[in-house]
Amino acid sequence: MPLIECKDLVVRYGEIEALHGLSIAVEAGEVVTLLGGNGAGKSTTLRSISGLAKPAAGDILFEGQSILGLGPEEIVRRGIAHVPEGRRVFPGLSARENIMLGASNRKGLSKAQIQREADEMFDLFADIRPFADALGWTLSGGQQQMVAVARGLMAQPKLLLLDEPSLGLAPVIVQKVFAIIGQIRERGTTVLLVEQNARMGLSVADRGYVLETGRLVLTGNPAELWANEDIRAAYLGGHSRAKAAAG
Ligand SMILES: Nc1ncnc2c1ncn2[C@@H]1O[C@H](COP(=O)(O)OP(=O)(O)OP(=O)(O)O)[C@@H](O)[C@H]1O
Ligand SMILES: [Mg+2]
Repeated sequence: MPLIECKDLVVRYGEIEALHGLSIAVEAGEVVTLLGGNGAGKSTTLRSISGLAKPAAGDILFEGQSILGLGPEEIVRRGIAHVPEGRRVFPGLSARENIMLGASNRKGLSKAQIQREADEMFDLFADIRPFADALGWTLSGGQQQMVAVARGLMAQPKLLLLDEPSLGLAPVIVQKVFAIIGQIRERGTTVLLVEQNARMGLSVADRGYVLETGRLVLTGNPAELWANEDIRAAYLGGHSRAKAAAG
């Protein structure tokens, strides 16, 4: 039984149909990357799993049980943490306080315990340890991204959803973020990662899915996807938004 399974998902935003019957599955312990261009439906897929988007049809099974229609808070409680696009660090809270917020789904923890765990996150995210007490708004994009991922891990999720963690970051910081994803994988956390940078996205993945305008066009392990000329043509030179954001 897969840890998470989306079956024939249809999601509409008004007139726009963002997903036209998408089916994907992730096994426990896997890191799976969703690739695809702008508007392909990658974020919508993650938002459907975390309860932020409401599918018009289809089903989502987590540990074999439907989570369709549950609210985002209940979904976090069941063990799914979502690090959305665009980081969303609270500007007026310190890095440590932002990270501590990630534990709000876990009941019965003392504040001291949460603080201890947040401090342990700085072992994994050593680059931001010196900024533990710095306010969110003073952090760089890469530092904010690390805070956002650390906050997701504080939920101790069975499934971590990461939406474009590399977007807009300098290459050296992207390398660091992906090294951390590699470590998260070694801890045994299952990850569903959205990435436009196919090379980075596949470097940490067991498998990948390629979406195009709300449909699955290709799936396979990184070597298989890499061997596909169309994918290389479409995604190796093709992360135009990342380039636009960086330039
Ligand atoms: N809140 C919304 N209201 C209306 N349309 C939306 C909304 N969110 C997404 N869409 C549309 O749904 C489609 C899929 O969007 P989605 O954000 O899932 O794509 P994506 O693959 O994450 O793209 P990107 O790489 O640009 O983040 C697009 O056509 C988009 O314009
Ligand atoms: Mg997106």
